[in-house]
Amino acid sequence: MQRTLIKDLPRHIGEEVKVQGWLQTLRDQKSMQFLILRDKTGLVQVAHWKKGNPELAETISKLGTESALTIVGKVVANEVVRLGGLEIQLEDLKVEGLAETPLPFDPFGEVLPDQDFRLDWRYLDLRRERNRLIFEVQTTLEAAMRAYWLDHDFIEIHSPKILGAASESGAELFSLKYFDTIAYLAQSPQFYKQMAMAAGFERVFEIGPVFRADPSFTSRHMTEFTGVDMEISWIESHEDVMVFIENWLAYCYAAVQEKHGEQIKEQFGTELKVPSVPFPRLSMAEAYQILKDQNYALPPEQKGDLDPVAERALGKYIKDAYNHDFVFVTDWPFSVRPFYHMLHVDNPTLTKSFDLLGKGLEITTGAQREHRYEVLASQAQQKGLSLEPIQDYLNFFRYGCPPHGGFGLGLSRLLMIMMDLPNIREAVYLFRGPNRLRP
Ligand code: 4AD
Ligand code: MG
Repeated sequence: MQRTLIKDLPRHIGEEVKVQGWLQTLRDQKSMQFLILRDKTGLVQVAHWKKGNPELAETISKLGTESALTIVGKVVANEVVRLGGLEIQLEDLKVEGLAETPLPFDPFGEVLPDQDFRLDWRYLDLRRERNRLIFEVQTTLEAAMRAYWLDHDFIEIHSPKILGAASESGAELFSLKYFDTIAYLAQSPQFYKQMAMAAGFERVFEIGPVFRADPSFTSRHMTEFTGVDMEISWIESHEDVMVFIENWLAYCYAAVQEKHGEQIKEQFGTELKVPSVPFPRLSMAEAYQILKDQNYALPPEQKGDLDPVAERALGKYIKDAYNHDFVFVTDWPFSVRPFYHMLHVDNPTLTKSFDLLGKGLEITTGAQREHRYEVLASQAQQKGLSLEPIQDYLNFFRYGCPPHGGFGLGLSRLLMIMMDLPNIREAVYLFRGPNRLRP
């Protein structure tokens, strides 16, 4: 017999069906047993008359909630049943996966244990519809990203994650034993997506793992995350990259809105708004002026940079002034940017770079890259880097590399702002942080 999904049961009144799912609750009464069965499409009540099959009744009595079951029975309309006005009269039941009792926690209980404990039992927490939705949205989001790129002649690359040298900076670098030597985990596909520009691919993207040995315990940092990266050639400036992103993001939001807008509203109370283009833009100098006007003084060690409080303040300012969730902050000082960002011709202390903030959270950093070998090498030296470890990278620029730029975006951070999730641990399938390597 074929499986029937719970949402389709109204079309099978009077028929015998097979339904498969989890035992959400069991009410074991004197003469009757009521099982609430859950599949990914909903809940249904299953009724069993104990006298009809005492042996089965005994099996059911011993079932732990969250056991995985296959049941066969007849669908009958029953107005008193609050769950969809129907129930299944049980004929047969097979225990596919018995749940031990007690559960570490009841994912459908009134009070949930703290997040750290739920992460220990992540698969139980993910049984909640709200949590599954996050990954349905992620799937739609990535499909939309790809659809847009493919429509714009992009090539997908998969760059190596085991490297012989740092891919961003010496800080935040994980090292590992690699036969007789030491290797490093990629901190971004930065250098290799640029190599694709030197290779003449013109437009590339990559969605892949990124590793950062960042010991911070915040609601937005992970030691491993999924990076969404792209790089395009023959640009005039970072403005070309920003124009690409805003249209691409608006397209992705529209796709998610269409498919999940209502569910997101239901589960998270968030109205998903497709952002209007162009997104507002602020230079870093303007951003500082706004912060100053609000009497927000950045701590001295943050000079030239933005801290999370400043990001949130700017997000709020943009919301109030432009009713927009996004803002590009452009033209960052070279002092707080990596050596490969291109400098402004008329002001070499500033880079042709940007961050994209969404609801006051950094989701993207991007830039036009310096593609001229001599200039690039000199910028690296200005940053105090020795050229030897990055010589493979520098070599990409020796035999004709076009002007280019791109960005990196944190997938989970984008999900956070889409659904107003307070913590990145909710937006990722399995969180990795300084204190968490399991499960
Ligand atoms: O800002 P980041 O470090 O920029 C780069 O990696 C550059 N190579 C990008 C470029 O093309 N110039 O990282 C890009 C994005 C951030 O904006 C943030 O959304 C996310 O990656 N990100 C993190 N997400 C979760 N945990 C972390 N520890 C993250 N670090 C960065
Ligand atoms: Mg950044």
